Amino acid sequence: MKSTTRIWYSFVIVLGLLSSPFLLRGAEELLGGAASWALLLLVAGVWFGLHRTVRLSKGEFHSVYTLDDAPTFAIIFLFSTSVATLVVCGVRFCYETARLVRGLRLHRDRVTLQNVIYHFADVVFVGFATLLAGTCLDMLGRPSPLTGLVGAGAALSAGAVWFCALFVLNAIHVSIYSETPDQWVQKVVSNVQENMATAALFLPIGLLMSVFLPVKPWLVPLLFVPVILIHAVMEASDKLEVETEQTILALSAYLEERDEYTSGHSHRVAGYAAAMARELGLSAEDIETTHRAGLIHDLGKIDVPDAVLRKPGFLTEAERAVMRTHTDRAVELGHRLVALKRGLPFHLAAYHHENFDGTGYYKMAGNDIPLVSRMLAVADTFDAMTSDRPYRNGMDDSEALLRLKKAAGTQLDPALVTAFLKVYDKGQVDVVRTGCPALKPRLAGV
Ligand SMILES: [Fe+2]
Ligand SMILES: [Fe+2]
Repeated sequence: MKSTTRIWYSFVIVLGLLSSPFLLRGAEELLGGAASWALLLLVAGVWFGLHRTVRLSKGEFHSVYTLDDAPTFAIIFLFSTSVATLVVCGVRFCYETARLVRGLRLHRDRVTLQNVIYHFADVVFVGFATLLAGTCLDMLGRPSPLTGLVGAGAALSAGAVWFCALFVLNAIHVSIYSETPDQWVQKVVSNVQENMATAALFLPIGLLMSVFLPVKPWLVPLLFVPVILIHAVMEASDKLEVETEQTILALSAYLEERDEYTSGHSHRVAGYAAAMARELGLSAEDIETTHRAGLIHDLGKIDVPDAVLRKPGFLTEAERAVMRTHTDRAVELGHRLVALKRGLPFHLAAYHHENFDGTGYYKMAGNDIPLVSRMLAVADTFDAMTSDRPYRNGMDDSEALLRLKKAAGTQLDPALVTAFLKVYDKGQVDVVRTGCPALKPRLAGV
């Protein structure tokens, strides 16, 4: 275990110890009569909400939104800080335990100690955030009911404390787990961006639950209706987004199959560029974006006629001009598909023919060219040189690497050529190549 990870988990233990007196007091209060049917209803709401997840971002460490926030807020607003901390921690602990048991039953090989620690640390974070939110409410005099300007202000402050604590703790946790600890600030920003809209919806619903539960309890189940509807809309939009992405990625693969000589090209470019992104220490999300940009980087060739795309020889100036339009298509798609830009980063894929010295298609230069596009340029150049064409055989790797070095500073970003060479030396280029659909052109009719 790395020292940063050790320090972080020691801190998590400290957070747990800080919460423990509240947990004990909460247990005393519950045994002393604080337990009620209202609490039971909200616990059921939290349990149900934890099982309804919506994906909010892409990649291995994507964020997920669960629908337990509204009843959790109601618990914080209606019950003492100690009871709320104990109950929220307790439900989350039972949920993680049930998930672990299911994991062990269904796919034991995928359950690692690191994974288990990662998920159970969430119990501590949620408990601590509840403790802070409850304490904030206590410091503001815990107005009851939380209505009027003072009550709503106190509830909003407690909600803000809860979200801030969770966003920051989760961001540091994910950054350390994904071995990019220096990127926790970016992760906080993306947590805020991804969760703000849903937080703004569920905090008022939680507040309404806490106001109605003591006086008009029959209204509370009705408040779950908007929560369920919001979930259904988010789920449908996520599904649509995934399906659109998959359709476009499939289209990209079919396009390559039109030309047997370029089959597998995008997969290899995507793999090389992602390996470079990993070598540069980029976040898991950025590595995923780089990979996706590689998969779609030549999709704009879709309206390049076969006579040009599959021409078995050198292209004329006019044909080269037609070929060049494929980046214009990508720029156009980048402008049109803004809402899907995390999954289909055309705005980055479009600039893979920019030269570092400013002599490329759009005359962008140096760091004005997006980093992902510069990585794609290196990966694309290497793959083009080492692949067979109808009119020539692919170069040996050593010759291609020599040419990459020569192009550093003019066509290609020198720092990224260095990154590619490291990736190559580590054998990752071969790993990508062997995993790709086609390495050599298939013979016609075979
Ligand atoms: Fe291209
Ligand atoms: Fe390409």
